Amino acid sequence: MSIRALPTGTVTFLFSDIEGSTRLLQDLGRGYVELLHAHHRIVREAIEEHDGTEVSTEGDSFFVVFPNALSGVRAASRIQRSLADHPFPRPVRVRMGLHTGEGRLGPDGYVGLDVHRAARIAAAGHGGQILVSDATRALVAADLPLDLALRDLGPHRLKDLPHPERLSQIVVHGLPSEFPPPKSLDARPNNLPLQLTRFIGRKDQISEIKRQLLNGARLLTLTGPGGTGKTRLALQVAAETLSAFEDGVWFVDLAPLMDAGLVVSAIAEILGVIENAEEPLQDALEQTLRERAILLVLDNFEQVIEAGVAVERLLRAAPRLKVLVTSRAVLHRYGEHEFPVPPLDLPDLRNLPDPASLTHYEAIGLFLERAVAVKPNFALTPDNAPSIAEIAVRLDGLPLAIELAASRVKVLSPQGIIDRMGKGAPTLTSRIAGAPERQRTLRGAIQWSYDLLHEDERLLFEQISVFQGGASLDAIESVCPPVSGADTLDELASLVDNSLLRQFETEDGEPRFGMLETIKEYARERLDHRPELLATTRRAHADFFADFAMRQSEQLTGYGREPAVAAMATDVENLRVAWRHWVNESDLDQLNKLVDGLGLLYDAKGWYHATIELTTDLLSVLASTPSTPERAMQEVMLRTSLARALMAVNGYTQEVEDAYAQALELFEGQRELPQLFPVLRGLASFYNYRAEFEKAAHVGEQILRLADAQDDPGMRVDGHLLLGASKAMRNDLQAGSDHLDSAIACFESQGYRSGRFRLGNNPVVACFTTSALVSWLLGYPDRALERARRAVGLANELGHPFTLAYGLFHTGFLHLWRREPDLVMERATGVLEVADRHDLPIWKALGTCLQGAADAASGRAEEGLALIHHGLDLYQGLKTPPVFWPLLLSVQAGAYARAGQAAEGLGLIQEAIEIIGSGAMVPEFHVLRGELLLLHPDNVTDAELAFEQAFDLARTLDAKMSQLRAAVRIARLRRAEGEMDSAERGLRRVYESFTEGFTTLDLLEARELVNGTS
Ligand SMILES: Nc1ncnc2c1ncn2[C@@H]1O[C@H](COP(=O)(O)OP(=O)(O)O)[C@@H](O)[C@H]1O
Ligand SMILES: [Mg+2]
Repeated sequence: MSIRALPTGTVTFLFSDIEGSTRLLQDLGRGYVELLHAHHRIVREAIEEHDGTEVSTEGDSFFVVFPNALSGVRAASRIQRSLADHPFPRPVRVRMGLHTGEGRLGPDGYVGLDVHRAARIAAAGHGGQILVSDATRALVAADLPLDLALRDLGPHRLKDLPHPERLSQIVVHGLPSEFPPPKSLDARPNNLPLQLTRFIGRKDQISEIKRQLLNGARLLTLTGPGGTGKTRLALQVAAETLSAFEDGVWFVDLAPLMDAGLVVSAIAEILGVIENAEEPLQDALEQTLRERAILLVLDNFEQVIEAGVAVERLLRAAPRLKVLVTSRAVLHRYGEHEFPVPPLDLPDLRNLPDPASLTHYEAIGLFLERAVAVKPNFALTPDNAPSIAEIAVRLDGLPLAIELAASRVKVLSPQGIIDRMGKGAPTLTSRIAGAPERQRTLRGAIQWSYDLLHEDERLLFEQISVFQGGASLDAIESVCPPVSGADTLDELASLVDNSLLRQFETEDGEPRFGMLETIKEYARERLDHRPELLATTRRAHADFFADFAMRQSEQLTGYGREPAVAAMATDVENLRVAWRHWVNESDLDQLNKLVDGLGLLYDAKGWYHATIELTTDLLSVLASTPSTPERAMQEVMLRTSLARALMAVNGYTQEVEDAYAQALELFEGQRELPQLFPVLRGLASFYNYRAEFEKAAHVGEQILRLADAQDDPGMRVDGHLLLGASKAMRNDLQAGSDHLDSAIACFESQGYRSGRFRLGNNPVVACFTTSALVSWLLGYPDRALERARRAVGLANELGHPFTLAYGLFHTGFLHLWRREPDLVMERATGVLEVADRHDLPIWKALGTCLQGAADAASGRAEEGLALIHHGLDLYQGLKTPPVFWPLLLSVQAGAYARAGQAAEGLGLIQEAIEIIGSGAMVPEFHVLRGELLLLHPDNVTDAELAFEQAFDLARTLDAKMSQLRAAVRIARLRRAEGEMDSAERGLRRVYESFTEGFTTLDLLEARELVNGTS
């Protein structure tokens, strides 16, 4: 197309492209070309219809220009509609952006910011969405056709554009209109702390670090002694590269950590990844990071240097992850780039420039900024310029040292400061000063600043070093009581003024105080010289936080839960220090004040490792104290949480069973205590997951007895569910079904309440799903459907993600049995949505398998198999309970049957039968085995045997549905052989025993056969 044909003047630009086109290409292979053709045709039809001109096309993206805004908007909505109506093999989601501006032509087409702006607007959208600039909005607002509407999305900063752009969305009636926020810079998630002071200089260093980070370097370590400005520089770089990291930039302060093993949890906590029962935290974290473009800023790595291994693992697992570290020493990891942070740049004292140019030196600039902050009328003058320059040089251009000195200008002149530095301070070595010299300079500066404090202030300064991870005003006032007459607040203010202490705010606006690491080290050293004060302060600290934890834990069960968890999380490092203190003292009373709060905090956060440590610590202290009934109950509680945490961390192992067994032993002779319930319930679900149904049933009986003794309806539901599920799974479908009915009746008459509900799957939902599956097998398809409906209804109501995924998955299975692939797909999609939204890897795996089963059942065997493979891969990577395996194998075998791959399918179903041994599912497995055998004409006899085996087993189990399905297949084979025999009479007998569900496929097939022979 010639350039001349393009319109100029005021035009409307439209950019569009297919979201996730690479993915589509990978999925569809050659089918993608066809898809692209259809897409192009749809777009071009709309362009033509609305007088647009195609400027360029590249792959799946279009650049189009329209003579006026309204025709552009109409074309865009036309495209979205046609795309939505077109039967693509996969949803094709196109994002579009429009902007009206000046169409200026250069030699190669349009030029200018307006084109650029339109492209950026399109890039900020999501598949299926139409975004328009404010210019376009204003032009179309009054004339929009009735089926379109505008939605204001507010101002957004777009990449490379100087000013925020107000964006609006075109809502097309009848098409999806809810999208995540536009992908603008504001939307880039981050937790970068707000800086209260201006960042000074370092232009070249910043661009060099950015260059390295945005190109090859994935692990970049900023090194230098304390106070060089590493952290500040890292934060600056992080803020400036925000736009390059789609999934955000996250700052993790490692300073409060006492143990390299906690680095992974610290990162996980910031990213909102929690430990879960299915996988170790490191794996969960890798899983989360795998697909994401994230920059992690790990601050103060020097004291957890061994954790470099874990970081290297993360980098290997997550190809788009980058890590910026600050550390006094390099990590020595593979691929690490080091960037030694130089001091701020300094003037030459022997050749001092005039005062005006002096301010351009970074070190001087910093001094002036900080000086003005404490003394607003402070200024650089020809008189004080040489002194200020000398201070900066003497302090080696070290930012922290300069801050300490500058904060003294309130009471000292610059010359006064130099005089006070005296001979002890370093001399003019700065230009060549290496790291060790700078270290000394900094120490000198801290010491100098310390020496200027009053004795009261010094004591307070030193005592504050016992806090870990900052402290609230309240905590400081209690732990560091003022020496006679002094006022802690005044002293704190003075320490803050002198830059020895920083004040910041928690998220809810409470003031907190903390020290930079280097300064804290100094304070701590000084406190070590006063062993008595050290001991009393530590004790006061441990006392304070024991009481604090107790106060918070009183809130942890009611409505105060969220704030209490937040408050404890803020002080978690202090709480841990207190905990260690009382463990060393073997002080049970104090530990008891801490344990509930900490336990619930860890639980809420999913820190199972910490829970294991907590319970083991306390159990060992308990072991050294005389036994009492309360003590025994406490031990029960501890062993139960230990068992749960062990299961979460290490999987379904013997040590979990041991921990439960030890807890149960403590109930000898007192089997009616309510405290027994959580132990039994935990143990039962452990057995169920291990597919040890006999043992689970036994525990269920104990729970029912306890429920009677306590007359507790909630316990009763749990007891019946356990008994019902395990009896049904084993071999007594009818008895199982009765128990499930009792559980449901109990729920219906008395409801179900559980104090700690969010910790597990909801038992009532489990009752409904289990009952749905059992009812189907027993030959009640309508009841099965009704129960499934209630399961999903209740799960939706509860808003508990795990339960919802569980409910959707199991009801999906019912639909699979009912041969309703569309419904299976719907459930599978639901499971995957929940899994993605809440990061539940086990449901991601299971949902993917179910999706594959749906595909296979709808005739897309190849795609189905691929998905199932993928799902099983995911599943295998997790610490999975054995109970699901046979079922998943049978799903895969079923897909192979659809694909006509008999050998693969047979191997799998055989394996499933071997694993499961006996039980309610076995007849169906044999039916499937028979179907796989039938794929080969030679195997007809074996197939018939398999069906007969299924039939016989189903009869002993009372599994009427399986009996019917087996009988149908036997009858078909016999009829093909021209025989009329007992098999068909058998089929008739089974069929006639049905009382409902006559429209389900299996019954319809049976009826056809029965009628055909009558
Ligand atoms: N370029 C800078 N601009 C403004 N303040 C700075 C700059 N570099 C360092 N600082 C300040 O100096 C002090 C020490 O810097 P910091 O980054 O904490 O050092 P490090 O992490 O190397 O110990 C901090 O108060 C910091 O805000
Ligand atoms: Mg630092």
